[in-house]
Order: sequence, then C-alpha cells, then structure tokens
Amino acid sequence: MTLDKKNSINNILEEKRIFPPSKKFAENSNISTQEELLSLKKQASDNPIQFWESFAKSELDWFEPFQTVLDNENAPFFKWFKEGKLNITYNCLDRHIKRGLGGKTALIWEGEPGDSKKYTYEELLKEVCRAANALKAIGVKKGDLVCIYMPMIPEAMFAMLACARIGAPHSVVFGGFSSEALKDRLIDGNARYVITADGGFRKDKVIELKQAVDAAIENGADKVVEKVVVVQRTKKNISMVDDRDLWWHELVKDQKDQCEPEIMSSEDRLFILYTSGSTGKPKGVVHTTGGYNLWSHLTFKWIFDLKDDDIYWCTADVGWITGHSYIVYGPLSNGATTLMYEGVPRRSNLGAFWEIVQKYKVSIFYTAPTAIRAFMKSGREIPDKYNLESLRLLGTVGEPINPEAWMWYKDVIGKDKCPIVDTWWQTETGGVMISPLPGVVATKPGSATFPLPGIEVEIVDKDGDKVKENEGGYLIIKKPWPGMMRTIHGNSKRYLESYWEYISFKGEKNVYFAGDGARIDEDGYIWIMGRVDDVISVSGHRLGTMEIESALVSHKSVAESAVVGKKDDLKGEVIVAFVSLEKDVNGSSELVEDLKKHVVNEIGIIAKPEKIIISDSLPKTRSGKIMRRILRSLAGGEKISGDISTLEDSSVLEKLKELS
Ligand code: WTA
Repeated sequence: MTLDKKNSINNILEEKRIFPPSKKFAENSNISTQEELLSLKKQASDNPIQFWESFAKSELDWFEPFQTVLDNENAPFFKWFKEGKLNITYNCLDRHIKRGLGGKTALIWEGEPGDSKKYTYEELLKEVCRAANALKAIGVKKGDLVCIYMPMIPEAMFAMLACARIGAPHSVVFGGFSSEALKDRLIDGNARYVITADGGFRKDKVIELKQAVDAAIENGADKVVEKVVVVQRTKKNISMVDDRDLWWHELVKDQKDQCEPEIMSSEDRLFILYTSGSTGKPKGVVHTTGGYNLWSHLTFKWIFDLKDDDIYWCTADVGWITGHSYIVYGPLSNGATTLMYEGVPRRSNLGAFWEIVQKYKVSIFYTAPTAIRAFMKSGREIPDKYNLESLRLLGTVGEPINPEAWMWYKDVIGKDKCPIVDTWWQTETGGVMISPLPGVVATKPGSATFPLPGIEVEIVDKDGDKVKENEGGYLIIKKPWPGMMRTIHGNSKRYLESYWEYISFKGEKNVYFAGDGARIDEDGYIWIMGRVDDVISVSGHRLGTMEIESALVSHKSVAESAVVGKKDDLKGEVIVAFVSLEKDVNGSSELVEDLKKHVVNEIGIIAKPEKIIISDSLPKTRSGKIMRRILRSLAGGEKISGDISTLEDSSVLEKLKELS
C-alpha cells in the first residue's frame, strides 16, 4: 500500500477558489444557517446516542420501537436499533400513501429507445406487492438471497423492493458483469433465485442478460440456483428452461396487489452488494435494515435539500451502491420523485442526459466525474442546445473530481446558480459521509468539504498518528454510524482485516480504515486523493488489481501478471497489465487481443485492460514480490524514482522501458 500521488492531487493542491451558496439558494434551503449545522454537529459529538436516537425516531416509522441505539459489545460488529422492528418498504411507500401522497409520482422511467413510464406512490406499491406475492408463490422465503441481474428498467426497482417487502435480502449484480463474475457472486451468496431480463438496451445495443445467467448456471451455479424469473424487455429470442425459468409478466399478472410487509428486525439483512478489494475475490458487503434505512434517508434529505416538487435524477445504475441508496431507498424513503434512465449518453445521442433534464424539468442532478469529463470533451454546444433552467442543485460521486471539471459543471450545466455537492462515500458506508450541505457550506472545486453531522474523520499516517495540515495520509472514520456495513458475507475475518485492523492506531480501537488517501487543508476542507490500496477506479468503477490479475493468469498462455492503474483524463484511471507468458508461447497482437477478451469474459467489459505489455519477466524484489511502484511509473510514462536497490534483476527494467 502506498501513499503516492497517483491521482489528481497535483492540480488540487493549488486550488484556492471558494464559492459560498447563493443567497437565494441558502434562504430557501432546509438547513440554511451555520448555527443550525453547528448545532447538529455539536449534538452529535456531545451525545451521539441521543443524536441518532432522535433521528431514528423522527425520520423512520417503526412497527416496534428499539431500546438500544447502539450495541457495541462485539465491536466492530456493531448493532443499531437492535430491538426495533420495521420494513424499509413501509418507510419508502406505505407511509407516504397514508399521509396523502399516494398520487405523487414516485418513479419516472425513461428507456433508452425513448419509451417511458411513470408510477405514482400508489401504483409503485401495487407493483411491488404483486412482485412480492409472485416471489412468495415460487417459494422465496424470508432470509433467502435473491440475485437481481437486470437492466435499468422499473422492474429492477420493483424486484429490489419486492425482496425487501418479504424479507428476502437482494444481491444486485451490475448488468455489465460477465457470466463468470455473476456465477461467482451467485455461488458466494448461495442465491437460490435470480431475477433477470431477456436483455436490456445500452448504447444502441442489446445486452444479453439471460444468456449470461444461463451460462453462469451451466458453469457451476446450478448447485445453488433453483428458479430464474425473466422480465421481457427486448423481446429478443431467448431460451427458457422448463421447471426453472419463469416469465415475470406471467407470474405477476394474477397476483394480488396487496402484500403485508414482513416484520423485520433492525439488524436483519437487507442486501448484499459485491465490491472489489485488495485481494482477488470480490467482497459481499452486508447491509442491514434499520441503520441503512436511516442513513440513506437522512443523507438524502440533508444533502439534496429536498422540496415537495423536486424532480431528482441520479444517473447511476442500480447495480452499484449509488443506485441502491440514491435511486431507490434514499429518495423513496423521503417521498421524492426519482428518475431512472435505462441508457447512457452514446455516440448517436450525446445530448441524452440534457434532453431528459429538459423533458422532465429535473431539478436535482447527481452524476459521476467521469461523465462530466466526457461532456466537457464533447463540447458545451451539446448541453447549450437544451433548456436546463429547472436545475437547482448538482452532485457528483465516485471519484475525485478535478477542479476544471467541477468549474465546467458549475458554469455550463449549473449556469453558475446551482451549488455542487461533491459526495465522498463507499459501498461499505451505505450512504454519503463527506459532503457539503448545499445551503450552508462554501465549496472549493475538488474538495468534498466536511464530514456530515455524526461522522468523525481523521487523516493519519501508517502508525495511526494524525498528520499535519495539508499532509497526505490515510482517511479513517472514528465512530460507528448507522449505515455502516455489518460484515463481509461469509468472511468476518476479512471484514476485520480489511477495515479495522489495517493500521495500528495509537490506543484507539474500532477505527474504520476507508482505503482512501486524503488531506485536510488550512480551512479544514477534506481533499480525497484516491485509493491507497490495490484498487483501481476506472470511470468510477472499483476494480481490484488482484481480481484482474487472477483473470489473466487463468488464461492458458499466461504465467504471471501484474496490473496497475494509469492516470487517464477521461476515465480517471485505465488498466495496464504487465504479463509474462508460459514457456514456448509467443506474444503476438492476436494474443494481446485474446487476453483482453479473456478478462472481459471473466469479469466484464468494465475490466478490459487498455494496454497489455508482454515481457519475459516482471520486476521483482529478491524475496519475489512484484514491484508495482515501478510498473506504475512505467505505465504512466514517468521517471522511475525511489529505491530500486531491492530489485532482483535490474536488466528487467531496461527491457520493460523499451516495451512500455
Ligand atoms: C471513491 C461509490 C473522491 C473512493 C459511492 C471510495 C470518491 C470509492 C468519491 C468507493 C468522491 C467515491 N471523491 N473519491 N466524492 N466518492 N470515491 O464503493 O476511492 O463504488 O473509496 O462507492 O470511490 O467506491 P464505491
């Protein structure tokens, strides 16, 4: 693990501009004064238990109240609101209908080919109940894991909520993952049920989801999967397996549109979501019901400054945590109107996003820096063609945003009147941890600003000592919070090792290590510097270098491989793989293409290496450890600095320099 400056740290070091919220925005915002914010922070630090208790009581509806706010007896396996009983779908749907909002639009959906649908809260509840009853009818029981492998269509949301309605945890797998990656996740989670579609539309192509499910089952997931439910989306021909595959529309059509919410304990699992870490196997991050409900709800409310008539749009996919917390649970728990789009901007329609903003008068827009950089590259003429007047608040998530992209977003999309909330968080944190509150906090381009009330962070060195102002260090979180992950599915040892035992903290126990580097400036603003572990972020998607290395090594021609990230203007980072081949195999351009294809088959298109460099050997220390630091410099075309005396054979370096 290194604290090198591989990310956009250089250009953010000099950033001095500061933008307070406009008077108009501040006046109308839900939290509008420094006093309010400071008072929240003070309450949280003076008496955290009371702080969380009061929000849990005021913001959520409970079927039975909790007695214990935080149980830290078995820390860091924390329990929140232990005795409380609730159902997140009740908080997302029923309670809004009960208070007369049944006719409010809950979901606006836009398909890539231009078809669209709207659902009111009442309609959404009915769809969810029908789906929930259908799941029960095929045998799904409370506690059974259901895998959802779907395009961005309304049924993906119905499926997630239907699972939550009946107490079956979901495991959503992003539709861009390959059948191999899906298979691993199905087996790891022991998912007996899969909900998928005949395909989905993305970039004017059809993604063949059902075929991938079939292949995953054929190649090993047959030992866990019993039933596959298929939504008809593309109407392309697919094969259905007797006694295993069922059509969604046939299954739900005769179901009752009422389904009592299952009474869940606060600590019952709500979902597993796989994410990448430092080691080869993806981690199934476990989130539970009460704490996650509160944190996704509260962060959405604070950060997006929701008003009754807002049209809110988060462009993420429900296959990622951002989609879970800020397309589905956070917005619905707050009674917002949330928009879902099946596609992404594509060559044939670079203005797709702005067309949607104009069409639906989107007022809050939340996207990723990589998308903003792509828009910048294709020029302001495209967004300038659309009416973006409805926008009042902009957000970003997923990776550090470079100040130029931030300024462009503010000027070209926000017309200099929308505050920008740069939100830092992770799959593991359940919801946003560091972000400006838009009506109160003056923003600096590229800084996620301050932790939210209740969240305590610090930047430390590898011994756990606090670093000086403006010095880079490891980002840690010092106190538990309700939305935190509970464990890694089936691997509590890895949970402890990855997050809680990585750095030895002086005298402090139960401190969460996020895996990111950061610094705090003279005004207390936090600047995220990127991952400090072996995780690469390609267009904001987290990928473990070891995961890609194992994929490469599983190819018959590969003896050894080392994968590093290379800085990229558009994607943040791209993947560069160094590979040595088995004896008697010749490196050819066909083999390089074949290896790229192999990685796509093993993991998915998001993991495709940008470049594969074939070399006789890789730079290693005398003890046999590959020196990635050197490979990173080589990939980035930088001078190799630092100590190379531990290198076993320095001639390797010369050869690699020629190849890179
Ligand atoms: C990175 C996505 C800088 C970070 C919600 C983190 C960010 C990882 C930001 C989590 C941000 C997320 N500024 N970096 N605003 N937001 N990251 O689990 O490295 O897919 O550890 O969750 O994304 O990625 P994940």
